[in-house]
Amino acid sequence: MTATRTRLVLGNWKMHGSLADNAKLLSALLAAPRVASTAQMGVCVPFPYLAQTAQALTGSSIAWGAQDISTQAQGAFTGEVSGAMLNDFACRFVLTGHSERRAMHAESDQIIADKANAALVAGLTPVVCVGESLAERDAGQALVVIARQLAPVLALGADAVQKMVVAYEPVWAIGTGRTASPEQAQEVHAAIRAALRGVGAEQVQILYGGSVKAANAASLFAMPDIDGALVGGASLVAEEFLAIAS
Ligand code: PGA
Repeated sequence: MTATRTRLVLGNWKMHGSLADNAKLLSALLAAPRVASTAQMGVCVPFPYLAQTAQALTGSSIAWGAQDISTQAQGAFTGEVSGAMLNDFACRFVLTGHSERRAMHAESDQIIADKANAALVAGLTPVVCVGESLAERDAGQALVVIARQLAPVLALGADAVQKMVVAYEPVWAIGTGRTASPEQAQEVHAAIRAALRGVGAEQVQILYGGSVKAANAASLFAMPDIDGALVGGASLVAEEFLAIAS
């Protein structure tokens, strides 16, 4: 089932880093022998560090990207960053709808779909993040919430959806050290896969995110519909991140 999907391991640095720390982290990633790994790796970094990241990683097998994108192409949108700007730094990926943006910036399901569309228009790969809160899971609503979050994204149609990546990140597992069990994650990934199949985009990579570490990555990746990981905290530690991708 997974044979045709390349494993993708993306780091989400969130609002961490400095020029000095990033230089160390990026050179540690580049120095590692990766002969045994078949995973595609990438890092999604804060906007001010895109230039540094692009300079360090150009010519390597590690891709890079941003953590957000404007729905707009240009104009009077103070603080926003457009897809064309991300292209100036040769980004490949952009996160859309991370739960921290949904929660702290009131991004709606429709805004997130608009951001995913803006990414595609710019030729970037949107990594559309979905996931339920603990209260929603406890209420038995996890799959309902994820279907609601995905609906406006899927409405963009097969041609668009086929160019995306989806990340399932249960909010209760992010930064908490509490990972979904492989079975819990697989149940949701299978539902996402079915929804993707429904619009003719079955081969989209579905990443799991939420306290992924070297110690739990292999058991998650053993699941048929888990195609990789979106890694927060552990992506800031070169050995951990490399071990997850190995
Ligand atoms: P975490 O974050 O790995 O630190 O839990 C994942 C994410 O929020 O993308």
